[in-house]
Amino acid sequence: MPGTCVIGLQWGDEAKGKIVDLLTRDHDIVVRYQGGANAGHTVVAGDEVYKLSLLPSGVLTPGVTCVIAGGVVINPAKAIEELDELASRNVEDSDNLLLSDRAHVIFPWHFAEDRSMDRNTSDGENIGTTGRGIGPCYRDKVGRSFAVRLGDMYRGTFADQVRHNVAEKNRLLAAMLPADEFEALDAEAIIKQYGAYAERLRPYVADTTEYLLSAAESGKRILFEGAQGALLDVDHGTYPFVTSSNSSGVGVSNGSGVPGRYIDKVIGIVKAYTTRVGGGPFPTEQDNEIGQQIRDQGNEYGTVTKRPRRCGWLDAVAIRYTSRLSGVDSICVMLLDVLSGLEELKICTAYEIDGKQSDRFPSHVDDIRKVVPVYESLPGWQEDLSGVRTLEDLPQAARDYLDRISELIGIPVETVSVGPDRCQTIPVGDGSAVAASL
Ligand code: IMP
Repeated sequence: MPGTCVIGLQWGDEAKGKIVDLLTRDHDIVVRYQGGANAGHTVVAGDEVYKLSLLPSGVLTPGVTCVIAGGVVINPAKAIEELDELASRNVEDSDNLLLSDRAHVIFPWHFAEDRSMDRNTSDGENIGTTGRGIGPCYRDKVGRSFAVRLGDMYRGTFADQVRHNVAEKNRLLAAMLPADEFEALDAEAIIKQYGAYAERLRPYVADTTEYLLSAAESGKRILFEGAQGALLDVDHGTYPFVTSSNSSGVGVSNGSGVPGRYIDKVIGIVKAYTTRVGGGPFPTEQDNEIGQQIRDQGNEYGTVTKRPRRCGWLDAVAIRYTSRLSGVDSICVMLLDVLSGLEELKICTAYEIDGKQSDRFPSHVDDIRKVVPVYESLPGWQEDLSGVRTLEDLPQAARDYLDRISELIGIPVETVSVGPDRCQTIPVGDGSAVAASL
């Protein structure tokens, strides 16, 4: 069976892009299947640093076809910007890209709605979205009356569709926004602007569901690149403080159109600690000197929004839950080097809620807010890990930390990352999928 998935098991920013980049060489096709330009993946190749938010990390590898499947919401300006940037940096084959004609398109009104929506959550805490129009675009997709799919942009009805949407959106935005923030949208200007985007993207647009099904049936090796993390999954995450797509492993099939029978391996990506951007509960958050030390050492500032990320200890209860939810076979522990210099490391092994201990991840946000983490302490290490290339060369305390993570989650660690570069990667045992690429 040809499919491998890479899924973040926390709240995103687990450094999935690095693992996807390493695995890409062993695949024919790399697929993004949910989310949009709210993701930020950084890939470091030698001296070159690439920051992508929409295009799959696979565009950096020659000979691989990259697919943005129907479950993604596409900001066409961003797609063009990233294609131009890659072309200007002579990335070979960045044109080897297919964009689903079923993918929904982000329009200017979605940005305005995103800003407005984020001020108006029912319980007073803001979601803190990335402001990229993602939620409103998915809302229109489900609502159906004001949605535009990429394939619609090449039909004679496109201009009228935009006029219809703009009339309604102007009415809504005038009611939603403070008067000094409301600026009426101009349908004709949008038709012109998006018409130009459509022409530029025309060569890439395809029925990717059919393409991927045929590829899977003929045994092509497909890599599914998850965006965000499983705790941000709209159905199974810390709702409502989530993104608007299925960012856990359960989203692969609905976003790509490829059924589970073609997926044979799910790799879970775990940061050696936890971060979260935006609002919502975070049981192991360290809003103190420890959190600041992790933020400084890990340069924990958003790739997309540059916001400082909230930092805290590793949460084994949450990861156990998301790894089960995503059907994870093995995990990669990322950014282990960031923890050097801490005297003591803590791992949350259980939750105490209303005086009762549990190892279950709660379904309701109010219960997650009540969690008092039960911690286990492990000794830290002082050594710089960035030059370590084998498991044996890691300090004993770092190996003990990895062993304990694997034991608590019940899943083997197959790869450890000690820096952003491709070479700063340690395969563990014989089963590491990235070993061949190092
Ligand atoms: P949205 O996806 O822009 O609607 O934002 C919803 C929530 O998901 C916010 O808390 C964002 O900070 C978070 N989020 C969205 N994309 C990412 C990501 O790629 N990494 C981390 N957090 C993200």
